[in-house]
Amino acid sequence: MGKSCLVTTFLSLLLLFLQTPKYVNASFICYGDFFNNVNYGVSRDFLFSSLPSNVVANGGFYNASFGRESKDNRVHVVALCRRGYEKQACKTCLEHVIDDTKSKCTNRKESFSWVTDQSDDVSCFLRYTNRSTFGKLELSPNVINPNPDNLDSSISKNMIMFSEEWNAMVNRTLEAASTAETSSVLKYYNATKTEFTQIPDVYALMQCTPDLSPGDCKRCLRECVNDFQKRDWGKRGAGISRPSCYFRWDLYPFYKAFDNVTRVSAPPPQASSTILDCGRDKKRFQGSNIAIIVVPTVINLFVFVVLILSWKRKPSHTGINEALDWNDGQSMVRFDLGMILMATNNFFLENKLGQGGFGSVYKGILPSGQEIAVKRLIKGSGQGNMEFKNEVLLLTRLQHKNLVKLLGFCNEKDEEILVYEFVPNASLDRFIFDEEKRRILTWDVRYTIIEGVARGLQYLHEDSQLRIIHRDLKASNILLDADMNPKVADFGMARLFNMDETRGQTSRVVGTYGYMAPEYATYGQFSAKSDVYSFGVMLLEMICGKSNKNLEKEEEEKEEEEKEELSAFVWKRWIEGRFEEIVDPLAAPSNNISINEVVKLIHIGLLCVQENVSKRPSMTSILFWLERHANTTMPVPTPVALLTRPSPSPSPSPSPSPSSSL
Ligand SMILES: *[C@@H]1O[C@H](CO)[C@@H](O)[C@H](O)[C@H]1NC(C)=O
Ligand SMILES: *[C@@H]1O[C@H](CO)[C@@H](O)[C@H](O)[C@H]1NC(C)=O
Ligand SMILES: *[C@@H]1O[C@H](CO)[C@@H](O)[C@H](O)[C@H]1NC(C)=O
Ligand SMILES: *[C@@H]1O[C@H](CO)[C@@H](O)[C@H](O)[C@H]1NC(C)=O
Ligand SMILES: *[C@@H]1O[C@H](CO)[C@@H](O)[C@H](O)[C@H]1NC(C)=O
Repeated sequence: MGKSCLVTTFLSLLLLFLQTPKYVNASFICYGDFFNNVNYGVSRDFLFSSLPSNVVANGGFYNASFGRESKDNRVHVVALCRRGYEKQACKTCLEHVIDDTKSKCTNRKESFSWVTDQSDDVSCFLRYTNRSTFGKLELSPNVINPNPDNLDSSISKNMIMFSEEWNAMVNRTLEAASTAETSSVLKYYNATKTEFTQIPDVYALMQCTPDLSPGDCKRCLRECVNDFQKRDWGKRGAGISRPSCYFRWDLYPFYKAFDNVTRVSAPPPQASSTILDCGRDKKRFQGSNIAIIVVPTVINLFVFVVLILSWKRKPSHTGINEALDWNDGQSMVRFDLGMILMATNNFFLENKLGQGGFGSVYKGILPSGQEIAVKRLIKGSGQGNMEFKNEVLLLTRLQHKNLVKLLGFCNEKDEEILVYEFVPNASLDRFIFDEEKRRILTWDVRYTIIEGVARGLQYLHEDSQLRIIHRDLKASNILLDADMNPKVADFGMARLFNMDETRGQTSRVVGTYGYMAPEYATYGQFSAKSDVYSFGVMLLEMICGKSNKNLEKEEEEKEEEEKEELSAFVWKRWIEGRFEEIVDPLAAPSNNISINEVVKLIHIGLLCVQENVSKRPSMTSILFWLERHANTTMPVPTPVALLTRPSPSPSPSPSPSPSSSL
């Protein structure tokens, strides 16, 4: 009996100990002159005595003054609790900070403290001064309490990306906190929980005293942010305060302020990475831009070298941290599945844009209003989470104005989803194979599209750090933006689906008959030159206004052995000089493109679809010839590959790739 009583007492003492809130004075400072007037202390303590109940009674914020200025004993106090406080917890917090202030600042004229209590759900603020500070922005003194630990080395090795995500988080929190919330007495407050690429959750909280203007609140918080960046950058958290505001961030939820906060993802990559776009408007490469371009290019070069070295060392997929080390500052978004479901209205059928070999594409709208294209990958990419994230991270690094931009991804539950920029005008096949829409495509427009696609492919093959072979280039994988500029979609899928890209031979052929180079379709051998072949087919389709499919229909009436590929159709007429039979009669003539230039296009197309792989030109040569005034002679095309139709069960079997976008 006595024993169990002892245990109970011990347990309840322990409980009591555990329940006692542990207050952490995130910032506490006594300052100003010492006062020698006893009545100053009396005024202050008088105000303190009713302060906790007054704060609660007034909705969380209260200010008051007492004493005579002429007698040098007038004191002004300001106090508040965090928005969403519980009444009792708020009172307890204030009582604690009042006791603390009385004992620590016995005869100082001023003090302020922003207090947090880790075990309970409170943070509160107390300040007293000998002058009225109501409505005034007060920036000094400042108090910084950094977390003593540094960020993990995996993160600190790649501070550029962390920095971008951190800044975006801080900006977002700051913007929200300094927007006055009129429905609350505590006008300026925000708490955010953000998923970074390298860290699951980062917590930030900002608050200003409600007597400020929004602009002053913003300025104060910005100063706190700057304080941290200047003094403690690299630490894994901090609380920074000034008399008018408070900012705290950490890698753990520092109080219940985050209970009801929904996690958001780090922001989409900035458009700053189009640096590799050496497109036609070279004007942009002048003056002050040089520095901006040169620096990332050097970094890219470095990244590229590292990449090559890593590939040599490790032929297979590497861990995410290494991939992140390569990152040169682009951030990538991981989207919540909930967000994707909301944006696409639960993959609503009417939002479906197309269906490709690797999954379906849906249109979506983010809460910000941004339109996106969501590609829901077919199950079984065979990648682990890390590998998937790793690959996507690499693909987001590919940025070119003629490539569809990958904004981020989502892999939650068993979904694997890619999020792309939305390109408004649908895919090229919807234009080129449509009697009406084809008329919109003047020779000018067609030339621009061909050139743009060539640039996108050149970037993938030669300029990007990854050297991607597309493997499924076709009209339906070329999207047109509002100005009819082409953007290549669906690149890098083979990487994502874990197919060996380094050997140049695969047992899994992805692609579309008619577009596939014969050596790829038959033997699974792929190279940049098999993409060149597909490019050639697409180019010829643009010139003829026919697809392989349509051609088949036209030829249906003819004898069986006369069925031919588009390339063969063009080749036969080319060698007989019957150009007019090749060229699309619906293409509106244009002043800028002469018939000679159209003939040049056919010539290039035929060079691309030559049977002899080594004779097919590189994308760089093609672009050189496409430069309108390049007056060079092109090689004479050798015979095109005459593909025999695949038997019903071809081996290896290609993935079905019906008309799709992305
Ligand atoms: C708070 O300060 C303002 C401005 O000095 C003053 O008008 C107001 O009366 C104060 N509130 C209280 C309760 O004293
Ligand atoms: C407050 O104290 C400071 C420094 O002791 C003094 O210079 C100032 O005049 C005081 N302000 C008022 C309003 O009493
Ligand atoms: C955050 O805001 C600052 C100041 O307005 C700005 O200079 C910076 O570019 C912003 N950073 C991000 C990542 O949005
Ligand atoms: C922070 O601001 C965002 C954007 O205004 C808002 O959606 C969110 O509810 C705010 N969070 C808190 C805890 O006030
Ligand atoms: C979270 O939301 C619940 C329900 O609305 C509310 O009762 C609770 O007080 C909130 N918690 C915080 C810390 O705001």
